[in-house]
Amino acid sequence: MRILVMGGTWFLGKQIVQQALARGWDVTTFNRGRSGADVPGVQAVRGDRTVADDLSRLASSGPWDAVVDTSSSEMPPRDVLRAVRALRKRARRWVHVSTVSVYQGWPHQPITETSPVLDCPPDADESFGWTGADGSPTAYGFQKAGAERAVQQAFGDSCVLLRPGAILGPEEYVGRLPWWLARTARGGRVLAPAPAERHIQPVDVRDVARFAVDQAAATSAGAYNITHPEGITFQGFLDACFTVTRGPGRPVWAEPGLLSEHAVKQWTELPLWRAHKGVWAVDSTRAAGDGLRCRPLVETIADTWAWLQDDGRPVDHPRWAEHGIDPDKEAKILAALG
Ligand SMILES: NC(=O)c1ccc[n+]([C@@H]2O[C@H](COP(=O)([O-])OP(=O)(O)OC[C@H]3O[C@@H](n4cnc5c(N)ncnc54)[C@H](OP(=O)(O)O)[C@@H]3O)[C@@H](O)[C@H]2O)c1
Repeated sequence: MRILVMGGTWFLGKQIVQQALARGWDVTTFNRGRSGADVPGVQAVRGDRTVADDLSRLASSGPWDAVVDTSSSEMPPRDVLRAVRALRKRARRWVHVSTVSVYQGWPHQPITETSPVLDCPPDADESFGWTGADGSPTAYGFQKAGAERAVQQAFGDSCVLLRPGAILGPEEYVGRLPWWLARTARGGRVLAPAPAERHIQPVDVRDVARFAVDQAAATSAGAYNITHPEGITFQGFLDACFTVTRGPGRPVWAEPGLLSEHAVKQWTELPLWRAHKGVWAVDSTRAAGDGLRCRPLVETIADTWAWLQDDGRPVDHPRWAEHGIDPDKEAKILAALG
């Protein structure tokens, strides 16, 4: 197998590269050389995917059996369209990493792959889309939906769309699990979002990568939701964080009403918490049927803590700083809880 990974130097793209190399595949990567080092063993092509000349130069390094695209999270659809057009004749298949944010109903309703997707043209620029007052839908979701249409326009039945929810694991740069680990390590009374028994469905980056690599060699088409089939309760998640960090503390559960009275921002101030009923009701039966295997999340938590102890964070990233509640604000809410 000969594959091209768009990106390939950090988090999901890096995992995909490592796993493809471990299978003995020939791997080309394409990036600007800003976000991380090349994985040894790849053929690295430098360039900016928003620049037509760079894409032409990349195309001349092909052909490939498949392209796996992990690097379009900040791209408007028209840039994704330019890339798929430039590479259409050089690759048989395109595996596109998208997101559950493309669904109109997320996070309000249960989601399957047949749920309606936000409407965005495949050649839209960055101004297309809007974010609702409660954070749903998002401009990001519109843009990713337009990117999916761009890929489908060029590759038709020779593409798959992977729609993960939250991705955690070693080298996470967003800062969700790292924040909870740091907070439980500090110990004491830790503000936690009730109900404790609520199931959450994040997935391990290594499991998403394995499925993406499997899909590069497969012949399936269409979309796959990528969420943890069993998930873990918030209580189980925090218990595992306390266990691995040996933090001397305990969770103190606050009802959503109290958190909103104190204007706690969902998804960021208490990472992975969102009160909407459909947020973790994303069905991944199709992916499980086609080989998605998710390790227990306690393993993800332990391995992420081990990574933080060894390496810290890979690069500074603005999203890291968005996560976590200010200690004074947390103390005020804990005081209100008695
Ligand atoms: N993290 C999550 O929880 C989550 C959840 C759902 C979906 N997703 C999706 O998962 C995908 C993978 O995310 P990720 O965080 O691993 O990677 P990412 O941030 O989307 O991409 C980073 C990679 O792309 C390269 N890159 C960025 N801009 C480039 C450009 N203009 N030209 C060429 N290369 C460029 C970077 O290298 P250089 O900077 O060196 O160019 C780096 O290798 C994304 O599509 C994201 O939307 C993530």
